Order: sequence, then structure tokens, then C-alpha cells
Amino acid sequence: MGNKEIAVVTGANKGLGFETCRQLKELDMQVILTGREEAKVKKAAGLLSKEGSSVSGAVLDVLDTASISRFAEELRAKWGVIDVLVNNAGISISGRFDGPSARLTVETNFFGPLRVTDALSPLMQKGSRIVMVSSGMGQLSCLSHELRRRFESPNLTRDGIIELMQEFVRSAGDGTYSGKGWPSSAYSVSKAGLNMLTRILSKELSPKGIIVNAVHPGWVRTDMGGASAPLDVRSGAKGIVWAATLPPHAPGGGFFHDGKPMQW
Ligand SMILES: NC(=O)c1ccc[n+]([C@@H]2O[C@H](COP(=O)([O-])OP(=O)(O)OC[C@H]3O[C@@H](n4cnc5c(N)ncnc54)[C@H](OP(=O)(O)O)[C@@H]3O)[C@@H](O)[C@H]2O)c1
Repeated sequence: MGNKEIAVVTGANKGLGFETCRQLKELDMQVILTGREEAKVKKAAGLLSKEGSSVSGAVLDVLDTASISRFAEELRAKWGVIDVLVNNAGISISGRFDGPSARLTVETNFFGPLRVTDALSPLMQKGSRIVMVSSGMGQLSCLSHELRRRFESPNLTRDGIIELMQEFVRSAGDGTYSGKGWPSSAYSVSKAGLNMLTRILSKELSPKGIIVNAVHPGWVRTDMGGASAPLDVRSGAKGIVWAATLPPHAPGGGFFHDGKPMQW
């Protein structure tokens, strides 16, 4: 324990989240590996603990506000502060596009990181880092010109981006999405929203010295990425770990791949 930095990773029982925990542990951080199912969390944390200490597991379902507040309380009681939060949990529902699937995707990929960040950022201090694991699929080119203008507006607020996400879910439900300029990919819209949220949260949290950035890991061989993806998890997690280990005063509010800036 001692002076180790403390890192929390969501959706970490497998894939990029699990590998991010492994790499943060290798950097001598105290890692809290979280996931929505207790049995999977125990198994994953146990696997990493075998390779050395400093990994503990905790249940955290990013869709469940009670689970989030319980986890925040546990953290406060056990550790007091945390240094790193990696909002990695995410879903992509393939072969289906309708109101319920759009809602679930936006709830998990956009509102999940928002709620977890709101609950855990009070435990963070000057120099702490928050990483949003986003995707190149969320680049704003997926939107119509008019929607893109609304997303990109420097005046976009937290309420404004929430309203845009809700507008999308409604229009996916009533079938009007295409005429309104939305793509038929809830995954893309949720990650475009997450990117804009990154800018907004960075503005909100920079007075406290908290650094918030979004990262595209590349196309990675995981259950989500599939077997044909060119990157292994080790390379995919590198850019996430880079953003999670930025020095104090590093810039926030950016979107990066392998440590290099990307277009929104
Ligand atoms: N793989 C790629 O090519 C790629 C590319 C760009 C971005 N990304 C992003 O990278 C992140 C990790 O993806 P991955 O490829 O590692 O996918 P993955 O192997 O499918 O892992 C996703 C993780 O998220 C968890 N999760 C889903 N819903 C959750 C919830 N409500 N609460 C808590 N955890 C939840 C899953 O838990 P369960 O095991 O319980 O389902 C799992 O641990 C995602 O945000 C994804 O969008 C991936």
C-alpha cells in the first residue's frame, strides 16, 4: 500500500480493461479491478494477483446508480482518495438497431462514464487522471452537418450533450433518426457523445487539477473487437495507460490514439 497510486478501471474482468489493470499494476499502482458480476471480478482479480499483489476486485455496474454509490462509499472508506479512473466499460450491440438497443448503448457508453465520474471525482486530487475509453467510430464525421455543429459548439454544456443523447435515443425509437441526421449506429453516437463529454468534464474538473482525456485504443482483438482485429490487447491498452499516467499539468480535454491527438 504505502505511497502507491490508486487506479480504478471499469469493465475490467476481460478485454482492454483487464489488460489496462495488468499494465497499471506493472507500473506499481494499487489497482482496483471492477466489473458488473462478482464471480467474474473475483476470477479476474485473482488471476492478476497471482502475478504479484496490488490488485483488488470490486463490483461496479455502470448502469446501476446504487452500485455506483456503494462502490464510491467503499472507496472512500478503504482508500480515501484515488489517482486514476479509467472509464473503460462499454458495449456494442451488433445486428440490431432500435429504441431499446440505442438506449442501452447510450446508457452504458455515455451515461455510465458520466455517473461514475461524478461519483468518483470528489475522491480525486490535483494531478489525478481520468481516461474515457472512446473510439474512432465516435468521430463527428458520423453526424450530419447540422448535428456536428451542435456537438462541436464551444458553448455545449453538460445539459446540452445530455439532451443530444436523449434526442438520439428518442429518434431511434420512433424511427425518425435518419431524417434528423443521425447514423444507424448507437455505438458511434454514444462515443461521439462521450468525446464531447470529455471536453466538458475537463473544463469542469481542471480547476481542481484533474486531467480528463479520451482515448481511441485502435481496433483490438477482444470479445468486442473480434478475431480479425489487427492489434493485441497489450498494444491496445498502451494508449489508455499513457493517458492514465500523464504528469501533473499535462493538458486535458483531448482525444488521443497511441499518445497522439486525433480529430474529434
Ligand atoms: N476492441 C476494440 O477494437 C475497441 C475499439 C475501440 C474502442 N473500444 C472500447 O474499449 C472498451 C473495452 O472494450 P473491449 O474491446 O475490451 O470489450 P469487451 O472485451 O467486450 O469488454 C467490455 C467490458 O465492459 C464490461 N461492461 C459492459 N457493460 C457493463 C456495465 N453495465 N457495467 C460494468 N461493466 C460493463 C463487460 O463486462 P461483462 O464481461 O460482464 O460483459 C466487459 O468487462 C469499450 O469501451 C470499447 O467501446 C474497443
